[in-house]
Formats: sequence, C-alpha cells, structure tokens
Amino acid sequence: MNFTIKTAPLQNTTTSCMVLGVFQNKALPEVTAQVDKLLKKQLSKILDAGDITGASGQHIIVHNPVGIRAKRILLIGLGKKSALNRKHFANVLDITAQVLNKYSLIDALVTLPSLSVIDTPADKLGQILAQSFENSVYRYNFTKSKKGKKPTLKKVDLYLADKTQRSAVKKGIDIGSAVGKGMAVARELGNLPANFCTPSYFGEQAQALAKRNKALKTRVLGEAQMRRLGMGSLLSVGYGSDEESKLVVMEYKGSTDKARPNVIVGKGITFDTGGISLKPGGSMDEMKFDMCGAASVLGTMTALCALKPKINVIGVIASAENMPSGRATKPGDVVTSMAGLTIEVLNTDAEGRLVLCDALTYVERFKPKSVIDIATLTGACVVALGGVNTGLLSNNDTLAEKLFQHSQDVNDPCWRLPISEDYQKQLDSNFADIANIGGAKAGTITAACFLSRFTGNYPWAHLDIAGTAWLQGKAKGATGRPVPLLMEYLLNN
Ligand code: BES
Ligand code: MN
Ligand code: ZN
Repeated sequence: MNFTIKTAPLQNTTTSCMVLGVFQNKALPEVTAQVDKLLKKQLSKILDAGDITGASGQHIIVHNPVGIRAKRILLIGLGKKSALNRKHFANVLDITAQVLNKYSLIDALVTLPSLSVIDTPADKLGQILAQSFENSVYRYNFTKSKKGKKPTLKKVDLYLADKTQRSAVKKGIDIGSAVGKGMAVARELGNLPANFCTPSYFGEQAQALAKRNKALKTRVLGEAQMRRLGMGSLLSVGYGSDEESKLVVMEYKGSTDKARPNVIVGKGITFDTGGISLKPGGSMDEMKFDMCGAASVLGTMTALCALKPKINVIGVIASAENMPSGRATKPGDVVTSMAGLTIEVLNTDAEGRLVLCDALTYVERFKPKSVIDIATLTGACVVALGGVNTGLLSNNDTLAEKLFQHSQDVNDPCWRLPISEDYQKQLDSNFADIANIGGAKAGTITAACFLSRFTGNYPWAHLDIAGTAWLQGKAKGATGRPVPLLMEYLLNN
C-alpha cells in the first residue's frame, strides 16, 4: 500500500473517497467542520437527520458531495471526544479500512491523522494508521481453490492540518507499514495447515527472505548438526515425526558496527498432537497454530528487512513436529540438553520448553544484549489472561518494564506474571536435574521457570502468546501478534 501525506487545502484535493470523522453527539472535529462549511452544512444536516450519531465505528457513505473534489465521503463515528485514545483510534482505522475495501475503492483521502488522540504523538498516529491499513488487506487464500475477492485499496492519502507534523507522521507511517507487512507474514504462516507449514518450510521461507534482502543472512541447521551441538532436548520432540526438525538462524545486520544484537527466539511446533501424552481430539486442529511464536519471528525479520533500521537483530526459530509413534519420546524418558542439564520428560505435551531451552542455550554465542522468546507455551496462560494480554515473564525488571510500556504504546498488550524462587521447586525430579512439568498449579509460571534455568547469562523475557496468537470461532485465524510489540522493542532498544 502506498501512503502519501497531503497538506494542501482539502477543497483542491481529488479523491475517490474522503474519510471524515465525527464524534458522538454530533460534535465535529476541526477538519470535518471545515469540510462541512465547504459543503454548505450538508454534513450537519445528515447528523441532524439522525442517520449517524458518531458512536465509535458507525459509518455512512455520502455520494457526490457538492463543494469538494471527492466522489464520496465516508463519515465514520469516533465515539466520545474525551475518550478517543490509541486503542479506539486503531479500532476506527480498522473499520475504515474494511469499509473502503468493501466498496472496492482503490484510493482514499483519510483526514483522521489530523485528530488529536489522548497521549498520542503524531508519529504514533501515522504508525497505527499504516499498520491497521496494511494489516487490513491480508486475506487467507493459500489452500482455497476459489480465491476470494482481492482487497482493492492501494493508495492512501493522509491529510494533515498541521504541516509541522509531516516528518513525524512520515516516520510513523514507515514503521507502521513495515509492521503491517510483518504481521501479514506471521498470519499467513500461522494459518497454513501443518501439511504445508513444516519445519523445513520455515527454513525455506527464511532462506528466501535472506535471498531478497542483503542485510539478512540465514542458516538452517538440520538434525545432524543439532546432534553435534548436543541439542538432545530439542531433538527429542521430533523423534516421533517423519518431518526433520530444524533450527533456523537469521541474522539481520543493519548496523555496521559490532553492536551486540537483541535476539528473538520463536517456538515453532508445526503441529502439536501432544506426542505420547496425546491431546484430546476436540479442537486439536488449532495446534497447527503452535508455531505462531516462530511465525512472529519471521514476521519481525520481514518487517526489519522492509524498514532497514540501523540495528542488529538475530531471529531464531526452533522447529519440530510433535507426533506419537514407535520412535517417539515416552513419559519418563530422560534427555540431555545442550546446556548439559538432564531433563525428565514427564509429559511429552510440554514440548515447547524442550525445543526452546536448547535454542536459548545456542544464542549465548551471540553475546546478546537481550533475548526474548515467543511461544504458544501454556493453556494455563489462556485461562489466566484470555485473548487480551500476552503473558510476560522475565529475569530482568528493566527489560520487563520496557516490554510492558512498548506493548501499551502499540496496542499489543502484555501483562507480567512472577517467576520467583518458590515456584522453581515444582520442577524437582527424582531421576534428572529437572522435570519438564511443574504440576497442576501456576502452569504458565512453572513453564517460564523451566526456561529460566537456561537463560542465566543474559537479560531475558518470555512472551506466552497461547491466548493472543490466534482467534477462535468464526474469525478463526492467526492475529500476527506480537509483531508490533517486538518491532517497537527492537526499534527503541
Ligand atoms: N501448545 C501447547 C499450549 C497451548 C494449549 C496453547 C492450548 C494454546 C492452546 C503446549 O505445548 C502444551 O501442550 N502445554 C501443556 C503443558 C502441560 C502438559 C504442562 C498445557 O498447557 O496443557
Ligand atoms: Mn504441547
Ligand atoms: Zn505446544
């Protein structure tokens, strides 16, 4: 999608559709009031007639307005003026983009960036707008024989009443559109069925991305290489599968200096049957989404390649398929991790931590400034935080605080849970250094406690996206979270 900032007077601008906001109780934002004047109060009359009240997301189309050079006006409700915060603003933009595509419009002039939104500087307005619009054109088609109608919106002009905001808004747009593209990549990978999206597919996609972008280098380690590195824990997860497990390592080098990188590590279980500790059948299809952490890593690397910031980032994907078979790991088996710790696999369904721990040891070689892992790790996190907040657990208060703040900044919220000593003893094992499950209580925390045993050498945070990575029901599909949060963190740290 192409974004252009316009500051010329509105009456001179030609467009297929001018998007104007209206507050609840018919209050008009400044720009809308100006246009209303040009239209000899046509908008006020529409509001007086009660056709639209200005409730958030409500909208109507006005055809052939006389007095401006727009073929249509899309009047969109903004809700209460005093309540227009970032979240509501983003929601209004999502609906705007949907409506424009529904009417098959190719271009539009959007005046919403001229609004004032609570606690939101101009660059963030541009960022939220571009992200929403870019994300709104994603459609899943890969495995449908009849491809759906393509979204039409291609060219979006943004009207700014205040010319001095131009460069800030431009900066935000560049970030937002890169993030939107990254989210689309994460959603597509998440949505792909497990007979298409395999560990090898991740490797191929990462290599293809590196081929298109000079700043990115990709290496894909297979099982033999991982065996040599001593990754007995990661490998044990794929024993029951005919798909080869892979460790994908992507190095984005935007800065020439030797700046230490921030590292992101994604759980890439391309299908999680539970293994010998087999899951029940209901909704098991959703376990194709068990690679959404990995998808968010590839999505973030894609966004970095689009934006080209001068930073160094390493993205790692730990990928395997968790299947039962005569060769699969059994409950009670003991495996040895790359770090040397032995692990009693009491439940083969707690496999995410088994692939992550070896990847977390592997990344020590990069002397990371910080390491963030992203994983659909525990059903307990869905119970605790639902589909709203991503679970955040960390061994470093500064890092946790930053991630929390950034998550609020970009409407991709996370909420911290504790990992204190008291929980660690739930992982005691009679037959190994550590067990891979910690009992019925505090499942999200004990999973993070397990990971914390492997992350002592750098500031580390864990994002449990089990509840936020995909939607269920009619809108079933991957969300692209937490690409916005990861990008915000990487760009500002
Ligand atoms: N991938 C699942 C977690 C999950 C379940 C995410 C449902 C989203 C929805 C993970 O591998 C898993 O099975 N975790 C177990 C851990 C348990 C055996 C300690 C869980 O949460 O039940
Ligand atoms: Mn599992
Ligand atoms: Zn899993």
